Amino acid sequence: MAQEVRGVIAPAKDEPVRIETIVVPDPGPGEAVVRVQACGVCHTDLHYKQGGISDDFPFLLGHEAAGVVESVGAGVTDVAPGDFVILNWRAVCGKCRACLRGRPWYCFDTHNAEQKMTLLDGTELSPALGIGAFAEKTLVAAGQCTKVDPAVSPQVAGLLGCGVMAGIGAAINTGGVGRGDTVAVIGCGGVGDAAVAGSRLAGAAKIIAVDIDDRKLETARAMGATHTVNSRETDPVEAIREATGGFGADVVIEAVGRPETYRQAFYARDLAGTVVLVGVPTPEMKLELPLLDVFGRGGSLKSSWYGDCLPSRDFPMLIDLHLQGRLDLAAFVTETIALDEVEKAFERMHAGDVLRSVVVL
Ligand SMILES: NC(=O)c1ccc[n+]([C@@H]2O[C@H](COP(=O)([O-])OP(=O)(O)OC[C@H]3O[C@@H](n4cnc5c(N)ncnc54)[C@H](O)[C@@H]3O)[C@@H](O)[C@H]2O)c1
Ligand SMILES: [Zn+2]
Ligand SMILES: [Zn+2]
Repeated sequence: MAQEVRGVIAPAKDEPVRIETIVVPDPGPGEAVVRVQACGVCHTDLHYKQGGISDDFPFLLGHEAAGVVESVGAGVTDVAPGDFVILNWRAVCGKCRACLRGRPWYCFDTHNAEQKMTLLDGTELSPALGIGAFAEKTLVAAGQCTKVDPAVSPQVAGLLGCGVMAGIGAAINTGGVGRGDTVAVIGCGGVGDAAVAGSRLAGAAKIIAVDIDDRKLETARAMGATHTVNSRETDPVEAIREATGGFGADVVIEAVGRPETYRQAFYARDLAGTVVLVGVPTPEMKLELPLLDVFGRGGSLKSSWYGDCLPSRDFPMLIDLHLQGRLDLAAFVTETIALDEVEKAFERMHAGDVLRSVVVL
């Protein structure tokens, strides 16, 4: 029997979000219904609402979530009812060219539920990133459920489902930050601060946090930054070089997604260093660099999709490190809110007042 639950939809471009009754079908083959316990508010949800991702309105928003599996469809063996899971948007297919070459973190054909969740009148919903978790229950592909230690609180665990994983993974997986490395992070919102925390976890010797907002620099310091730079007041390239013996950082992580901050990242790294772009640019943005500098400075220029994470490998490991007290995921939760406060949370995010607002159900 399909179920009726409450969920937050973005009805049309730039219209305020609202709560609607969502019809959640029983799980079909390879699918699972999850009772959502917590779901963080991510910048990407706002992009959906603004029409910046696609025109497939109405969207069922929310995608940084944790909850308990309620029921599974035929053929599902990896998770069972009662399992505590983090939802992911990289349910790897095992068959695409990336998976077959042993690089499933790049999977080009990730799985989502086949059936659609709908409104009461039958209108099909597009779940954000194939998840749609600002809802009491949601339908996903079973591979989107990653079991983790249930000792962690859902509001903390859910954050690994998107932004925090993207930031930690940008440092550890894409940037390959290791013991003794120098790291700079440009843009210290939820994603950048997670890159700071990931760099500390990996043993970075120096972590230089750059932002234009002193409040963000304060949180970056709490996450492990050894130096902070307000780039409204100080040239960040100079400051990063100064903090690294005049050379630049081994790894520079750009977590804003703008040409000017990418350029700073490019010039703030040491020779043969690595730039990681985890911030997401908009379609009209262009970048111009002297090709001779691209060649002459060597190293690598990389992008990081979802922190190049493999949920089955990374989620349980990071939750275990959190439970050991080595990774303070709780520090990312600025506030917990109710389902009907998502619109307000978007405003606070826009004003830079929060790292993460988390809807608790
Ligand atoms: N690659 C991925 O898989 C992935 C996943 C999630 C989010 N993201 C992207 O990461 C980026 C950051 O996300 P977030 O949730 O941390 O957003 P956020 O808005 O919380 O943080 C952005 C930070 O950048 C700072 N900033 C803005 N302009 C700046 C400038 N010129 N110089 C220095 N700092 C500046 C802001 O003060 C803020 O602290 C976004 O572009 C988001 O879409 C990427
Ligand atoms: Zn694949
Ligand atoms: Zn997200």
